[in-house]
Amino acid sequence: MEIDTGMEQEINKAAIAFSLTSALWFALATSMGMVAAGYLIAPDFMANIGWLQFGRIRPIHVNLVLFGFVTPGLLAAAFYYVPKLGRTQLFSQKLGVYNAILWNITIAIGVVTLSAGYTQGREYAELIWPVDMLIVINFALVIVNLVMTVRSRKEPILYVSIWYALAAVVLTATTYCLGNVIWKPSSGALVGIQDAILLWFYGHNIFGLLLTPLSLGVAYYVIPKVTRNPLYSHSLSLVGFWGLLVVYTHIGTHHLLQVPVPTWLKVISIVDSVAMVIPVMVFLINIWYTVKGKVGEIHADVAGKFVFAGTIFYFFVNIQGSMMALPQVQRVTHFNNWVVGHAHLGVLAFAGMTALGGMYYVLPKISGKPLYSHFLADLQYWLVLIGSGGFTVVLTIVGLIQGNAWLNGETVYRVLPAIQIYYVLRVAIGFLILSGAYIGLYNIVRTIFFNPGAKA
Ligand code: HEM
Ligand code: HEM
Repeated sequence: MEIDTGMEQEINKAAIAFSLTSALWFALATSMGMVAAGYLIAPDFMANIGWLQFGRIRPIHVNLVLFGFVTPGLLAAAFYYVPKLGRTQLFSQKLGVYNAILWNITIAIGVVTLSAGYTQGREYAELIWPVDMLIVINFALVIVNLVMTVRSRKEPILYVSIWYALAAVVLTATTYCLGNVIWKPSSGALVGIQDAILLWFYGHNIFGLLLTPLSLGVAYYVIPKVTRNPLYSHSLSLVGFWGLLVVYTHIGTHHLLQVPVPTWLKVISIVDSVAMVIPVMVFLINIWYTVKGKVGEIHADVAGKFVFAGTIFYFFVNIQGSMMALPQVQRVTHFNNWVVGHAHLGVLAFAGMTALGGMYYVLPKISGKPLYSHFLADLQYWLVLIGSGGFTVVLTIVGLIQGNAWLNGETVYRVLPAIQIYYVLRVAIGFLILSGAYIGLYNIVRTIFFNPGAKA
């Protein structure tokens, strides 16, 4: 009888290349996060080094976590599960590997240009036009590889993970072009309010149409596999998919509630932000019912643990986000660290942990080698889990102090001494996440290249 070792015959070089990409930039992104956090404690920190200033390091950190760490990590899993679910091979391993190489070159150019001061100055759309074009080409290559794989499938039924993976890359390639106004290379922007509306349509869709669907695709694949339970309901999975597309696409204006955008647009964004509870709960009910009775299996599997923790954080980020879209709540939470806390809860605790879980699940299968160290993967899980929770608590407290002080007419500088200690705490907690990122990089590189447990 053949024993299931969790490994498979064919080496999936494309998925390996994307896993390495994600692990590498995770380490560098958190390093940049630490520098940025250092500045907020000691603004004179490295004061004379132009390319290391806060205004340059912050967008580098944010672009690296989005496009360097989380997206490639989630894509690595998609490069594995899309062919697997279609009972076919990936359309082209070579294309996937070249895609990953180009992806890394793109990110590296992005970092160098941002640190040299070349920016279009719009949040989440800072990268200059040539880098924007490279990003679009990268997504186009992913689309070709995944769509051609799906075309050659032998399994007629498309499982929901494939829907999510394809929707994410196709829709992001489109909204990226729109949000970065790529038909205006010099500014990458429209003017005035129209620009703000377009930017935030795109900005929130980086989370809503890229990170969220890719993460849900991974969760829908990994959770039934790890628990060895069938998915609770395929119908619910599609209700959640279409619900997400309908509701998430136009909530971006909730970033602009304090701005003179048309009221009808604000109303749509608020109503749909609250309605986000529907697709999120549909997903969570489906996944948590699938886990029912098998929590032990989840706990015993590091990939399952990462992904399951991601689903719990998804619950919290949704409840928090829906509340933050209410104007009365936003009077306190807008323009302060509450939002930064929400951002780390969403991008790190939900999407980042899901990406790590997806990678740990596919790693032995795509490389044909056992994971180098389960202990290190487990250690990374606890470091990232405690770090994410810690960030959320600390940044939420800072946000509440800032928000209430400003609401009561206090000046900004008089609030700074009160929040200094929390900024120090953020750096301390940041060390946990930083260590987790480097441990993960080591573990993934050892698994792929220097693995004594592997068969020759
Ligand atoms: C699911 C329902 C969600 C809702 C209703 C929601 C709502 C919101 C709102 C209202 C804001 C703006 C806050 C302000 O400027 O005052 C915001 C910001 C943000 N959200 Fe969410 N959110 C949700 C989920 C997520 C998820 C899943 C992620 C990440 C994957 C995420 C990432 C972010 C980020 C990064 C920001 C900060 C944007 C900035 O730089 O200003 N959100 N969200
Ligand atoms: C060592 C760990 C980390 C530290 C110390 C750190 C620190 C920071 C700092 C200082 C900022 C700027 C906040 C501000 O402008 O007030 C920031 C922003 C941000 N970070 Fe991190 N970070 C870390 C890890 C991560 C990770 C792993 C992710 C995602 C996977 C992430 C996602 C983000 C996002 C999305 C923003 C933008 C927030 C916004 O615009 O509201 N960070 N981070």
